Amino acid sequence: MVEVKDFRGAGEPSSAEAAKIEAQRAADEKARADGAARGAAHHYRLGELCPTAQLNTGHRIPLVGLGTWKSQKGEVHDAVVEALRAGYRHIDAAAVYGNEQEVRVAPCLHVRRPPVMRLSKRVWVGEALSQVLSEGVISRDQIFVTSKLWNSDHHRVRDACLKTLSDLQGLIWGVTWVPTCNITTKGPRPHSGRSGPEVSPPLSETWAALEALVSEGKVRSIGMSNFSPKKVEAILAGAKITPAVLQVEAHPYWRNDKLFNWASSKGIHVTAYSPLGSPDSAAIMKRSADAPSPLKDPVVQRVAEKLGCSPAQVLIRWGVQRGTSVLPKSVNSERIRANLDAASLVIQPEDFQALSTIEPQTRMVPGTFLVDAQNGPYKSLSELWDE
Ligand SMILES: NC(=O)c1ccc[n+]([C@@H]2O[C@H](COP(=O)([O-])OP(=O)(O)OC[C@H]3O[C@@H](n4cnc5c(N)ncnc54)[C@H](OP(=O)(O)O)[C@@H]3O)[C@@H](O)[C@H]2O)c1
Repeated sequence: MVEVKDFRGAGEPSSAEAAKIEAQRAADEKARADGAARGAAHHYRLGELCPTAQLNTGHRIPLVGLGTWKSQKGEVHDAVVEALRAGYRHIDAAAVYGNEQEVRVAPCLHVRRPPVMRLSKRVWVGEALSQVLSEGVISRDQIFVTSKLWNSDHHRVRDACLKTLSDLQGLIWGVTWVPTCNITTKGPRPHSGRSGPEVSPPLSETWAALEALVSEGKVRSIGMSNFSPKKVEAILAGAKITPAVLQVEAHPYWRNDKLFNWASSKGIHVTAYSPLGSPDSAAIMKRSADAPSPLKDPVVQRVAEKLGCSPAQVLIRWGVQRGTSVLPKSVNSERIRANLDAASLVIQPEDFQALSTIEPQTRMVPGTFLVDAQNGPYKSLSELWDE
């Protein structure tokens, strides 16, 4: 049984850190004034364009966030800028996506100015955030950034966090950072996490290191990704903090009902990844091009026709109406805007029910690469997912 622990107030920064935050706020304020003077506001759609949910930390998570997995360096910058201008306030990132910032910038943990100023050709997530802040229309406190701790970094949680924060252009204090865990092992292939018989270091140690980041005020909320209720329960037996968010695959072709209901009953918010069925990961995940796709599903298409919107918008609204946050990835400016607009649609109860009972259920991101039948800690998909 997981107890939801309220840690609002945890992570109060030290006085030196508070001074740094204050200096950052003053710089933001100046940027805002400069941006206003330059008339940057006309690029922005402002107002309450996206519903939010309250996390068990007291912070609010916007229910539509921009996914960035597979967004190439060079295109992710424009996508993030476009999204924030269009009204998004939630960006989902990960060091392993290779687009948080140029890898060679990694050692710049104590940079006084964002390295973007010296790396004008590097145009990735952190630089996009930096550009938007410099336009002065929205402030860093308004932006919710999720990032993730990858399998190869469980033994160096703090360094990995600082690296991400640096890559995100020094948005250390204003951004909600939700590191998520996967699996990790010692062995020759720590990147995939599938070599070696045991998860090492134990996940409880990884979680303790994440808790320390909250106490230190480095991150606002911590969560997990791709963990089953059984694995979360095991970690939390000795934990101080309940995860704020569980990020898992969810869409009408993989509702993840059991996990969703379990998390909801514990006060853990569910973020749905691959909400459109991840069509662009077909080759990576070795799905055949003609495999069933929620975007082409007849029920989804019928509801789209009824609402006068696109199938993608139906899928996004279904996730929002269900109470999850959803992370549609796009690098296309029209789709980026349309995907956010989907948040304000309303699906009628009978259509919602039809979308919530589609069979069969199939993962689009099955995690096969995390399984090693001979040597891995998870020898089958059912061991990985506890299903
Ligand atoms: N924690 C994890 O393990 C994990 C795993 C997977 C994903 N994620 C996160 O979740 C995000 C979303 O998942 P995903 O990238 O797998 O897939 P997704 O968002 O379900 O689908 C992305 C695909 O849909 C297309 N698309 C976007 N908007 C569309 C629209 N309105 N109409 C038609 N097609 C549209 C995109 O193309 P265009 O770009 O050309 O528009 C892209 O091909 C990821 O980017 C990542 O941030 C996390």
